[in-house]
Amino acid sequence: MALAFGKIILFGEHAVVYGRRAIAASLPIPMECRVTPGGSGQPIVRIPAWELEHRLSELPTVSRSLDQAVARLLELTGLAGQPMTIEVTPHLTSGAGLGSSAAISVSILRALDEAYGLDLDDAKICAYAYEAEKIFHGNPSGLDNTISTYGGMLLFRRGKPPVMERIEGRMAVPIVVALTGRAGDTKTMVAGVRARWQTNPPGYDFLFDAIDQIVERALLALRENDLATLGLLMSHNHGVLRTLGVSTPELDALADIALRHGAFGAKLTGGGGGGALIGVCSPERGDAIVQAIRGQGYQAFFTTLTTAHPSLVTF
Ligand code: PMV
Repeated sequence: MALAFGKIILFGEHAVVYGRRAIAASLPIPMECRVTPGGSGQPIVRIPAWELEHRLSELPTVSRSLDQAVARLLELTGLAGQPMTIEVTPHLTSGAGLGSSAAISVSILRALDEAYGLDLDDAKICAYAYEAEKIFHGNPSGLDNTISTYGGMLLFRRGKPPVMERIEGRMAVPIVVALTGRAGDTKTMVAGVRARWQTNPPGYDFLFDAIDQIVERALLALRENDLATLGLLMSHNHGVLRTLGVSTPELDALADIALRHGAFGAKLTGGGGGGALIGVCSPERGDAIVQAIRGQGYQAFFTTLTTAHPSLVTF
């Protein structure tokens, strides 16, 4: 059985697609995958929690990109056509901007490695998961597969190869995660930003640069464990994301609730257009903010992001 974790983008989504920096941290909630070799015919993909079970070649439209991604992973690992059962147990909500697609790919790769002794190192897992991300997301920056593979807290910049710097230290970032309950479609959101950027590249580049500046300042605040400044920077980042057109009235309303109940700041996380909002707060305020958000009919939870890989922490 193999685990791979989701992620929270603390700062820098969307701008990261255009070569600016982003900061992401593992969310200690995993995707779990078990691969059982054997049987006959095409591989079977089972995700009981999503009431999904079929053979890979059957390609039902509902899970088309998932099937294509799994087929690509099997091809990359030299296992195409091998009979097996791939069973995924998702503990992570999908479509919430929490990195579930990358975590599925990484968990499948680690489970294939375990079952077939493929000797895949992290660099290969990350590169293969990126190929699957292209199927899920069109033009991914590579951030999600990188954080899901390496874990902890990372500063990331897209490139060939991408630049990844591990953020070290004892910082702990208490956050509330609120779910809009509406799946954000990252591919569409990224394509929308691209279309707007094409109408006015200098204007949008200015916004991406502003996000990069926020990332720069957030790095300092993280190193000093300065939660109040981190919160302020999150709200600034959210403002720029709104200007980019990826927020929604629900995300803005959730940000308001978090702020009114004592969060230092809040922003959408991931692709936007739905998905999730994060608010940084003192550990003491976490529960009150979660309750306030739940009181408005949304799901929410409190967690603490650290620089440690979650697989090394008791789950
Ligand atoms: O929605 P998510 O969790 O897949 O995050 C997307 C982050 C973007 O910056 C919008 C896209 C990307 O590929 O980095």
